[in-house]
Amino acid sequence: MFEDKTRRRIFIARLAKLLFGIFSLTSIVSAFRLKPGAPKRVVSLEARPIRVASMAELMQKGYVAFNLRGRPGILLLIEEEIHAFDATCTHMGCPVSGKSLKTKGVLECPCHGSTYDPATGARLSGPAPRGLSTLEFEIRGDEIYILPQ
Ligand code: FES
Repeated sequence: MFEDKTRRRIFIARLAKLLFGIFSLTSIVSAFRLKPGAPKRVVSLEARPIRVASMAELMQKGYVAFNLRGRPGILLLIEEEIHAFDATCTHMGCPVSGKSLKTKGVLECPCHGSTYDPATGARLSGPAPRGLSTLEFEIRGDEIYILPQ
């Protein structure tokens, strides 16, 4: 009889410790969670400059199209100045081309014909609602890098 009461007390004491431990752990975990609506920290895995072309390539053709993490981009050499744009057409997202630079002097979207100013990225004509976004770049020696945006 005496042993049963002792075992029961030990069991209850251990159960209480276990429940207290679980309660403490869940409190600590919930204290570290972000509150709903709080801004979440976004960490870019590609937060480094990306080489997209050499100066020689750009000077030879006048433009270089590239892919930046799945999005089209374009580097242009206009009157000895380099320009870089996100080449995603602002109408429906087709990649804007530099093929019409020599013949028409504009960037042109092959899908519905929107045109953009190659020096500024501004919309010139067509259904596109706005111009192209510029991309920051850096020249290191003979290489051109697009900087994290
Ligand atoms: S997607 Fe470029 S003009 Fe329509």
